[in-house]
Parts: sequence; C-alpha cells; structure tokens
Amino acid sequence: MILVTGATGNVGHNLVRELINAGEKVRALTRDPATTALPDSVEIVPGDLTRPETLPAALKDVDRAFLFPVFGALDGFLTAAKEAGTRHIVLLSSAAVTFPQLGWIGEQHLACEQAVADSGMSWTFVRPSVFMANDLGWAHQVKHGGIVRGAYGGAAMAPVDERDIAAVAAHALLSPRPGKAYELTGPQALSQIERVRIIGETLGLSARFEEMPRNDVRRQLLDHMPPPAADFLLDQLAAAQAEPDSVLPTIEQVTGHPARTYAEWVAHHVADFGG
Ligand SMILES: NC(=O)c1ccc[n+]([C@@H]2O[C@H](COP(=O)([O-])OP(=O)(O)OC[C@H]3O[C@@H](n4cnc5c(N)ncnc54)[C@H](OP(=O)(O)O)[C@@H]3O)[C@@H](O)[C@H]2O)c1
Repeated sequence: MILVTGATGNVGHNLVRELINAGEKVRALTRDPATTALPDSVEIVPGDLTRPETLPAALKDVDRAFLFPVFGALDGFLTAAKEAGTRHIVLLSSAAVTFPQLGWIGEQHLACEQAVADSGMSWTFVRPSVFMANDLGWAHQVKHGGIVRGAYGGAAMAPVDERDIAAVAAHALLSPRPGKAYELTGPQALSQIERVRIIGETLGLSARFEEMPRNDVRRQLLDHMPPPAADFLLDQLAAAQAEPDSVLPTIEQVTGHPARTYAEWVAHHVADFGG
C-alpha cells in the first residue's frame, strides 16, 4: 500500500493517477475527505499532518509514502510511519535547498529533508524548481483584460509541469533509489513576459505582462504568505532577471519522456484560464 499525502494538491492528484495506472493500491490522506475528488479505486482517509493522533490509522499497512512538506510538522508523521513499518519516504522538497542563499523557503525545506533523513527510514527527495501551476494565479487577470502585473518581468525561470513532478515522484515510489535527490526543472528558461505571451497565443487572445514596483508586489504577496516567503520569491525573481535559471535533464532521464513545455502546460489548463 502506498500512502499519498498532499493528494488533493497540484502534484499529489497527478501522482495518485500515476500510481493507479501502474496498478498500485493507493491511499490518499486529506483533511477533508468530503470534498475530495479522486479516482474511485483510491482509498481516501482523513488525516492532518499537524495532528499526529490522526495518522496511525492512515499509515496501517503502508510500506511507501509520499510526504507533503508541511513546515515544522513532519516529526509526528515520521514517528507514526516508522511504527507502522513504512520502509520508504518520498519527500516533496524544493530546488531552493540547493541555492547558495537558502532564504526562508530553502531553510524550511531543508529542515523537512533533515527530519526525513533523521527518521531512519529510507528516502528519496524530489526538488522541483518553480511550478508552472503558480501561473494559475494569473488566470483572473488573463480573463479580465489580459494584462498580467508583477515584478521582474524579464526574470527567466525554468518552471516545471506538476505532471512531470508527479511522474518523478511515482518513479521514486515504484523503483526506490534510497538517498537520491532529484532536482527538477522544466525544459526552457522563460521570462514572465514570454510566459504571458505564450498564454495569450495558446488561448488565442491578447495578453501581456506589465511591470509593477517590487514593493507593491510584496504588499500583495503578504496577503498569502509570511514576509520571509515573499522576500524569498522576489529575490529569486531578481536573481533570475540577472541570470536565467539553468535547465536540467532530470525529468527525461528519470521518466524517459521529455519534460513538458510551458505551451503544453497552458494547453492542459485552457479551462482554468477561461478559454
Ligand atoms: N509552488 C512552487 O513553485 C514550489 C516549488 C518547489 C517546491 N514546492 C513545494 O510544493 C508545495 C506545493 O505542492 P502542491 O502545489 O502540490 O500543493 P497544493 O496544490 O498547494 O496543495 C496543498 C496540499 O497539501 C495538503 N496539506 C496542506 N496542509 C496539510 C496538513 N496540515 N495535513 C495534511 N495535508 C495537508 C493539502 O491537503 P488537504 O487540503 O486535502 O488536506 C493539499 O493536498 C509547496 O508547499 C512547497 O513545499 C513548491
């Protein structure tokens, strides 16, 4: 039995599908089973990573697990998993752990990796760069006028499709390589200006990026995240404006198929952008 935490998320719901297609028995953990839409063959169990008392039942007979990195809250899960006889943990981490300046996000993910490494179970880390899924945050602006506002429009990152992250995580669960950390990027470094243009071209509408001052963007980000996370994201954009992100071959090496392009990702999400 494989337990997938974060199973309702961008990566997790694609991972569940990969594992079902591979013929695995899958259990999905969620805080709210009533609203969860997953394939019928998935066993859905209630659980909260911040409430360890909810976890032993979810971990019964689980030999491998995909762990979503709820910051500062993994010890209860890891203790319960070890007691349940779980052998291998695949942790969703972040490329930020490899940055020269870790920043708050890198530090949080590194602490998650350390907790898993200290657990005594075998592990694989999946370290994606920025998710293409983050750009769904632009959907409202694309639908209403087509002007996407943000800072550092020229910042060229190599965003990764959540389906490819899931495919690598599935591989790490199906053919465990203990002690391996997979660093993932998408296949192209694309600026925000270029990504908005691709969204417009794919949807067949006019869309463009418009620059905003960093401080204004920071104020908006603070509605959704703590100040150190907002500063990290803006610093990451500033760095990618100065020097484009590198592109890594990991996804093709692990899965045998090329990493999905940004245009393919947009085409998959046309409905989300109102197309
Ligand atoms: N966005 C990026 O650019 C980026 C880059 C690198 C790494 N990452 C990592 O990837 C994560 C986001 O992954 P995602 O986009 O797949 O997730 P997501 O779509 O944001 O969904 C969050 C998932 O986490 C689960 N969750 C949250 N708190 C939980 C808790 N206390 N107990 C149990 N489950 C909990 C939710 O489950 P329920 O609501 O169903 O309970 C949901 O399935 C980030 O948090 C970060 O660690 C992100």
